[in-house]
Amino acid sequence: MITTVLLGAGNVATHLYKAFEASSQVTVIQVYNRSEKALESFPSSIEKTTSLTHIKEADLYIIALVDDAISSFSESLPFSNKLVVHTSGSVAMEAISDKNRKGIFYPLQTFSKNSDVDFSEIPICIEAEKIEDMVLLTKLGRTISTKVQEISSKERAQLHLSAVFVNNFSNFMYQIGSDLLSKKSLSFDLLKPLIKETANKIETLTPSEAQTGPAKRNDVKTIENHLHLLKDSPYKGLYEELTKAIRDKHTN
Ligand SMILES: NC(=O)c1ccc[n+]([C@@H]2O[C@H](COP(=O)([O-])OP(=O)(O)OC[C@H]3O[C@@H](n4cnc5c(N)ncnc54)[C@H](OP(=O)(O)O)[C@@H]3O)[C@@H](O)[C@H]2O)c1
Repeated sequence: MITTVLLGAGNVATHLYKAFEASSQVTVIQVYNRSEKALESFPSSIEKTTSLTHIKEADLYIIALVDDAISSFSESLPFSNKLVVHTSGSVAMEAISDKNRKGIFYPLQTFSKNSDVDFSEIPICIEAEKIEDMVLLTKLGRTISTKVQEISSKERAQLHLSAVFVNNFSNFMYQIGSDLLSKKSLSFDLLKPLIKETANKIETLTPSEAQTGPAKRNDVKTIENHLHLLKDSPYKGLYEELTKAIRDKHTN
């Protein structure tokens, strides 16, 4: 049985807690958070603390805090020579304080507290300084996912950059679509089948093969009409940039 303490009570900690609890090979023995509020959403059966000095002894400690807090928080941990990992896509393993053994346990997925995920399909990117810690992280990852992969901090930075494009930026495109529709009192639901098919297509086509639209076809009049509709919109520049990027990619 692997024992772990979750350090943080946000989106990732919440989902990791649920996934570990569903496994018979891992126990979350405690959840720490700096404030009480976020801890309230965890069941009363799990031990919770807001005090660093009350953190329990475990096989490993998982920091699931905002990226900018990881380094200083790891420095403030009141123990040493334990395996301490973080869950960030963009923060290097070296950011963890030298007083503990360092590692990474990065689940490559978007997590929101109120949206369920199937962990078995989520790539878990792991890294550690010591072989025995790699073995433990591999074992831990395999308790919840079939896709556990060793990835270096440099590779993870590139992976995270790609993830920002395909997830964060795509989602912001949904926001723009929603804003534009609401100006004509149209429902965002109209776009949902299109969004789903755009994601589904990527199972069988490359992104390049799947690209459609006026920029790819170079339909100049349609592009001009769109720019006219966007003449007072903050998104006009973004439309022009993306149209140019698609044209450049597909004329090369
Ligand atoms: N969400 C995702 O889709 C996702 C996916 C993969 C990896 N990650 C990574 O996982 C980590 C956690 O992300 P998240 O989405 O779970 O974040 P989140 O939901 O915003 O939760 C942030 C956590 O950090 C704590 N926190 C904020 N500022 C702090 C500070 N200065 N000192 C100590 N604790 C602080 C918060 O405590 P309070 O409750 O007291 O504010 C909360 O527990 C990040 O490194 C992120 O890059 C996120």
